[in-house]
Parts: sequence; C-alpha cells; structure tokens
Amino acid sequence: MKGIILAGGTGSRLHPLTKITNKHLLPVYNKPMIYYPLFSLKEAGITDVLIVSGRGHCGNFLELLGSGAKFGMHLAYEVQEEAGGIAQALNLAEAFVDGGKAVVILGDNIFEDNISEAVEEYKNQESGARIFLKSVKNPESYGVAEVADDKILQIVEKPKEPKSDLAVVGCYMYDHHVFEIIQSLSPSQRNELEITDVNNRYLKEGTLKYDVLKGFWGDCGESFDSLLEAAHLIKGSRLAKIDDKLNLI
Ligand code: G1P
Repeated sequence: MKGIILAGGTGSRLHPLTKITNKHLLPVYNKPMIYYPLFSLKEAGITDVLIVSGRGHCGNFLELLGSGAKFGMHLAYEVQEEAGGIAQALNLAEAFVDGGKAVVILGDNIFEDNISEAVEEYKNQESGARIFLKSVKNPESYGVAEVADDKILQIVEKPKEPKSDLAVVGCYMYDHHVFEIIQSLSPSQRNELEITDVNNRYLKEGTLKYDVLKGFWGDCGESFDSLLEAAHLIKGSRLAKIDDKLNLI
C-alpha cells in the first residue's frame, strides 16, 4: 500500500507565519510539522510516499526530506499548481497509486495513535474506504460524522449545528475508485473539491468503515491555538521521542 501526504494550501489561517513558508514546514515542538505524518506512515509500514505541495514550496520539502532514504522511506513529489482543495490535491496522485490502495494523511494532522492496526484491517477490506473519527470540543471546525448504532449516517463539513462531537480527522484510506469519485465532484461554496463529499459517496455506496482514535489528534493548521496545543501535547507524548525511529539523528 502507498502513502500520500497532502502538504499544499495557502495556510491562510496561520498568517503571517505562513507568509513566506509552507505551513507543513513550521516547527511543532521539536520537529517540522510534516515529520509527524511521515512517522505515522512509516510506523504503519508504508514507506513509499508521495508528497503533494504547491509550486512555491515543493523545493523546500525536497531539501528537507530528500529521497527519504535517510528515513528508510522512498519519497516522491508532485506539484499542485493551484490550491483547489484536499480532493483536488489527491487527484494528482492517481498515477502514483497505480490502481492500488493508499493511506492519505493531511500534512498538518498529528496522530498520537499508532495507525498500523487500522491499516492492516483496511488491507483486508475488499474495497471501499476507511476513516478515523475523534471526539473533539469544537466539531464545527471539521467534517462531523453523525453516528447511530455504530453506523455513520452522514458527514457534514463544518456544520453550524453539529449532530455529534465526532470529527472526521485527516487520515483516509481509499481504493482506486476514489479517483472516479473525485472526477465527478463539483466545487463547494469555498470553491474546493471537498474530501467530505468523497467520504459521503463511499458512505452512500455502503463501503465506508471507520475507527475511533484513542490518543490525541491535532489539526495544527486550524488555528494558532491548535498549533500551540499540538506542541504541548507532543512534548508530553511518545511523539517527542520518535527521532531514532525516523533516523533523524
Ligand atoms: C479538512 C477537511 C475536514 C477535516 C479536517 C481535518 O478541513 O475538510 O473534513 O475534518 O481537514 O483536519 P480543512 O483543514 O480543509 O478546513
């Protein structure tokens, strides 16, 4: 299975920190933000990873991470010419995925959990998609899943009146059908191809499964406070000490 890290976007919610650099290169405690999703993938045994980023900063990622050999990984890079949403960025990975399955992580999402078990479950899932949910205090800032009897009924992107506190976090597992879905989407009100629309399509087709995260989850790109909070949480967690596992030293 392949991995994809989406590291584009304008980072407008973190201006002026992101005025001259990419959000995913900002420090979060003792590492650049993108190291954390990279580690999550490596820990799950996924070492063939595509990094999708905007044209202004792709070179910085290459400089920071190189071929990935140092981390025991193989990294490829793809340029997203214009920010058009998560699903639009993912669409650029079609050739890389080459008909198989992939784990997609948003480069500003940080997971304390080891996602290996869910990835293994997904390998055995015949087709469809698998997502992660996490109970949060501010669901209105995320995609929110309405769940009844352990089944997701619907996912709503940033609802004003959330039906639950379960955020759909930025780690998704998809089969190759995802590209057909993306190519049939229309832009949302914020003029983006929404990943929530992708997940709702799998839901409609009856092939969307989910796991609930136990440890902390941080979306560092959401606000200055979430960036700061993630740094504090990392400081007290196993993620502060992953350097030897990623061969960073
Ligand atoms: C995106 C997704 C949202 C998800 C969030 C997780 O939001 O659209 O469904 O809950 O990532 O980080 P965005 O960061 O684009 O506002």
